[in-house]
Amino acid sequence: MPGLSGDEEGSTPGPFLSMSSDSESSPPATSSEQHVLVRISATFEGVVDEMKMRLGAVEAKKFPGGFRLWRVASLQAMKDSTVSSFIRWMLPMHHIWPCNPAKMDTFIEKAAQTMLTKFGNRSPQALFVGALNPSSPDPYYKLMASNLRGRLKQVFPEMPVNDVEMQDSNRKTLFCMVGREGLYCGLETPKWCNGLYPGGTKFMPHDTEDMVSRAGAKIVEALHHLRLFRSPPKEQSRWLELGAAPGGMTQELLARHYRVTAVDTGAMDPRVVGKPGLIVVKKNVSEFTPMPDWNYEAVLCDLNGSPFDSIAHVARVSKALLRKGLVVFTLKLPKVESLDEPISIIGSVEVDAAEAGLRLIARTHLPSNRNEMTLFFEKTGGR
Ligand SMILES: C[S@@+](CC[C@H](N)C(=O)[O-])C[C@H]1O[C@@H](n2cnc3c(N)ncnc32)[C@H](O)[C@@H]1O
Repeated sequence: MPGLSGDEEGSTPGPFLSMSSDSESSPPATSSEQHVLVRISATFEGVVDEMKMRLGAVEAKKFPGGFRLWRVASLQAMKDSTVSSFIRWMLPMHHIWPCNPAKMDTFIEKAAQTMLTKFGNRSPQALFVGALNPSSPDPYYKLMASNLRGRLKQVFPEMPVNDVEMQDSNRKTLFCMVGREGLYCGLETPKWCNGLYPGGTKFMPHDTEDMVSRAGAKIVEALHHLRLFRSPPKEQSRWLELGAAPGGMTQELLARHYRVTAVDTGAMDPRVVGKPGLIVVKKNVSEFTPMPDWNYEAVLCDLNGSPFDSIAHVARVSKALLRKGLVVFTLKLPKVESLDEPISIIGSVEVDAAEAGLRLIARTHLPSNRNEMTLFFEKTGGR
C-alpha cells in the first residue's frame, strides 16, 4: 500500500502513527504528537524559529514555496495561540506519502485508491488538490494536482460541493497538496485551515494595468477571506473608507456595486473620481465626523501611520456603523523582527476596538499583505 497514514477521530486528528524514514531527519514523533502542514509568508521568515519555540513545534520538513511540516503536541492549542495569526494556512495531516511522484508512472492511481480507502467513507463536502510549490514556474505539479483531483473525483462517491467558493466553511473538506516531496493530505474545515483554497486565500495579481493601486488586491482578498466567517455586505451597502487615496480599494468596492465615502488628505485617482456611488472627502480623518443621520454598513481603514491612531479613528466613526456592521482594518506593523512587539500591538488594537463595541471576527495575513495584518470586526450594538 502506498504511503503511511495517520488517523483521526472527531474534529481534531488523533496521533500520527508513522512516517517513512526518508522524509525527515528530526527526532521521531511521539505517539501523542500531531503533524500539521503550515504555510508562512516570506514576511515572517525571520520569526519562524520564534514561532516554533512559542508553539512547541518541531519542524519535520521545509518545502519550497513557504510550506513546512511541523509536529505539535496539540493542534488546538496551536490554533488558539495568537502566534498562529502569523501562519497563513494550516492543515492537520491525516495522510502523508513521502515519495517522488515524477518518478512513478502509477502515482495518481495508487494515490487515488489509497485516498479512497482512507477517506471514502468520511463524507468530505469537497475535495481539492493544490501544488506544494504554487509559485514555481514549472507547471508540472499544478498539472499533476489537477490530474489527481480529476481521478479522485472519479473514484470517490459524489460530493455536494465542486466549486471552491461554494464550500461551507464549517464542513470538512479533503485538502491534498502534491509536489516533488510527495503527497500531504488532511480532512478539515476551511475555517480551521484559514482558507477556502488548498494552500490558503486566493492570490490577486497586482500588475493588472487598470488597477489604480496594488492595495485593491487586499480588499478583494479580504472580502474573499471574510466568507469563512460571515457573508459580505450586500450590493449598494455604504462603506466609509479611511485612507482611501489613490483609490485602489475604492475601485474594487465600486466594482462590487457598493457606495463609498472615501476620506483622505491625498488625491484620488481620476479613474475613480466621478464614478457613481462615490463621495470623496479630501481632508484629514481627524477632521471628519459623519453627520448624525449618516450610517454605514461597513468601514474600511487602510490609513498609514500609528495603528493606535488608526483604530482610534475607526472607533470614533464606528458610531455611524449599523449593528453587525463590518470593519476591515489593515493593521500596519513595524518591521517584524520578533513576535513580542506585533503581538502586543495587535492585542492593544483589539482592546481599543472592543471598548468601542467592535467584536473581533478574524485576524489574518493576506497574500497581498506586507508588514501588516488584516483584522475584521463586527459592531455589536448600535442602530
Ligand atoms: C496605504 S495608503 C492607502 C491606499 C488606499 N487604500 C488604496 O487603496 O489605494 C494610506 C493612505 O492613508 C492616508 N492617510 C494617512 N493618515 C491620514 C489622515 N490622518 N487623514 C487622511 N488620510 C490619511 C494617506 O494620505 C494615504 O493615502
